[in-house]
Parts: sequence; structure tokens; C-alpha cells
Amino acid sequence: MGTPPEAWMAEALRAARRGLYSTQPNPRVGCVIVKDDRRVATGWHEYTGGPHAEVNAIAAAEIPRGADFYVTMEPCSHHGRTPPCVDAVLACRPARVVVAMTDPNPLVAGRGLDQLRAAGVVVDSGILEAEARALNPGFVKRMLHGLPHLSVKMASSLDGKTALRNGASRWITGAPARRDVQFLRARASAILSSASTVLADDPSLDVRLDAQQLGQERGVRQPPRVIVDSRLRLDGTQKLFATGGEVWVYTTSTDSAARSRLEQRGARVIAVEAGEDGRVCLPAMLRDLAGREISEVHCECGAGLAGALVAAGLADELILYLAPHLLGDAARGSFDLGELTAMEQRIDTRLREQRQVGDDLRLTLALEN
Ligand SMILES: NC(=O)c1ccc[n+]([C@@H]2O[C@H](COP(=O)([O-])OP(=O)(O)OC[C@H]3O[C@@H](n4cnc5c(N)ncnc54)[C@H](OP(=O)(O)O)[C@@H]3O)[C@@H](O)[C@H]2O)c1
Repeated sequence: MGTPPEAWMAEALRAARRGLYSTQPNPRVGCVIVKDDRRVATGWHEYTGGPHAEVNAIAAAEIPRGADFYVTMEPCSHHGRTPPCVDAVLACRPARVVVAMTDPNPLVAGRGLDQLRAAGVVVDSGILEAEARALNPGFVKRMLHGLPHLSVKMASSLDGKTALRNGASRWITGAPARRDVQFLRARASAILSSASTVLADDPSLDVRLDAQQLGQERGVRQPPRVIVDSRLRLDGTQKLFATGGEVWVYTTSTDSAARSRLEQRGARVIAVEAGEDGRVCLPAMLRDLAGREISEVHCECGAGLAGALVAAGLADELILYLAPHLLGDAARGSFDLGELTAMEQRIDTRLREQRQVGDDLRLTLALEN
């Protein structure tokens, strides 16, 4: 009995994961080419503008006729930043192409597979599809809904408190949990926070892992830091402006002096429509981010913005680090949802993963919006 297709696809997914920190805004994609139940070549997409997974795999070895291609996402059939992969695959005269998922872009979906079938190639789709989708939650959501995938990270005490009433919040969790967060930042397309948190904590919100720690040959990508600052309270003197990559400030303010102060510090100031309360309209900000090819947003903020994002149904995932201590009822909570008056108003989540990081507990929860 030969190796089951799921095993080859699992290998292609492992290859795709090598692009975890580097393919933005493109999806992570892997490819394994198999002939007579033996692996001929493996490839993955490494960075935007670089060759796609199939092309890298084809370049890695002499590909015999009649091979089977296992690809985690349908080969592209259009000219994007690189030529269509379907042409490169067909040039190898494959017998079979197995994909985990079709391209979620509605303008593309299925066309690559149709072209392969039209050329007489056997095509199978849907092998380990859930795993392939989970590897690119932001790309999938951006293509289908024009919004980024939003993950809210929160560090709290065991009783759910994120800061003392006087604002002090350093440090709630231990060093291993804080290091773990660095990996979440590194894989994000953008890191979101608020002017309130920046003014309270003066964080740099950058990636402080080096290329070796992230397994990167081409250096470390610094995701833009995106700050909600409706009234332009930041003045460019905060640490954020002197470290890491770009700073994008979303505002409703028309104060041109405040704007040029930030621009002089290298920030990009983006005006968006106001919500009912005059503050930045959060859905408009997220739509704008998706328009700038931001697929995965990792949010580090306080209870105010976190609560607003969750209540508006804009957050897809919570990553909660729970430290084994109590801060008491006077301390600040994790999500300001206003006062709920009926249990039906609660926000339900689904536990996806739990693990211990140092002395802390990390919970990953899905929100069903
Ligand atoms: N434990 C943790 O993981 C963690 C992480 C970060 C921060 N913190 C702590 O959290 C505290 C800050 O919390 P916070 O609640 O003051 O700040 P926050 O939640 O970070 O941000 C609140 C700000 O977000 C914006 N915002 C909130 N709701 C909005 C809505 N519906 N529409 C548009 N904008 C909205 C507003 O900013 P504008 O009006 O200026 O636009 C608001 O002032 C600090 O003490 C910090 O140490 C803890």
C-alpha cells in the first residue's frame, strides 16, 4: 500500500509553515512532488514577489513526467507578481494534482483547477483542507470578506485583571509568556494598539527576535504598528516612533499641526470616517487595512479597545495569557463590554488550544461572530 495522500499533504503543510513569518501579504503555501510513492521535490513560498511553492519545488529537482503534485492551495492561473503556476505545473506533464484548498479569492477560485483538468490532469481537492485554511486565516478572510483576521492578545491575572486601577500593568505575565508574544507579533501582518495604551505604557510593539530565532534567512520582517488615535494624542516622542518598522496612525482628527508632527517622525497618518461616538470607525479602519493587504492583525491593547473590537464582532480569536496570581476586584478587567443585563448578551468563545508557557497558561479561543 502506498503512502496516503493525507501524509503527503501533511508534508506540504509543514513546508508551507516555513513561510509563517515571511510571506505577507501572500499566503503560506507548500508543495511536495511525488513519483512512484517517493518524494521527488519539496518547495514553499518564502516571500512576496519570490517564486511560488510549486515553482520552487520544480526548481529543486529534475521532475519526471507523470508525477503527483501535492499543493496546500490551488495553483494560481493568473499573472500576479509572478507568472501563473498552472503553466509551470503543466510543463512538467503531471498525472495528478492534489490541493488542500481552492484559492479563496472569488475571482480566481477553481480556475487553476479547471485549467489543469482541461489539460487532462487528474485533480483532487479538499485533502486536509481545514489545516490549510488554519494556516492562512487572514488571507482567507481578506479574500472572502475584505477584512483582516483579528486576534486579540491579552495578559491577565487569574481573575481576569489586566492593569491596576492606577494603570500599572508591568508585568502581569512572566518572561516566557512575553517571549511567546514575540512570535505572535512576528507572524502578524500588522500589530494593532491604541493611543491610550501607548501613552500609558510607552511600548515599542516591535519584533525583538532575531533571524536565527525565527529561522529566517532573509532577515526579520517588522510588521507595521497600527495605532487607533482618534484625537491625535500621540506627538511622535513615544518609543514606538524610534523603533521597529512603520507606524500607521488612524484618526478622525483634522488637526494638521498634530498630523505633520507625526509625519515628521515617519508615521503614516490615515484619516477614516468617525463612528457614532466621533471616534475612529473600527470596521472602516479594518476595511482600510485589508485594502492595504493586511491579512492578519495582532492586537495588544487594554480593556477599552479589546472590548469594543469584541463587542462589534470584529475579533476572530482571543489569545489569553493567564498568570497564576490575583489582582482583586479594584483592578481593571480584560474586556470593557459595558454592563450586560442578561446572560444571553454574553460573548461565547470556543476553546481551541491550551498550554502552559512558563508559569502562565495560554488559552486560544475562537469567537463566533
Ligand atoms: N494586560 C494586557 O495585555 C495589556 C495590554 C495593553 C494594555 N494594557 C493596559 O491597558 C491600559 C489601557 O487600557 P485602556 O482601556 O485605557 O486603553 P485601550 O483599551 O488600549 O484603548 C482605549 C482606546 O481605544 C479607542 N477605542 C476604544 N473603543 C473604541 C471604539 N468603540 N471605537 C473607536 N475607538 C475606540 C479609544 O481611543 P481614541 O479615542 O484615542 O481613539 C480609547 O481611548 C493600560 O493601563 C495598559 O497598561 C494591558
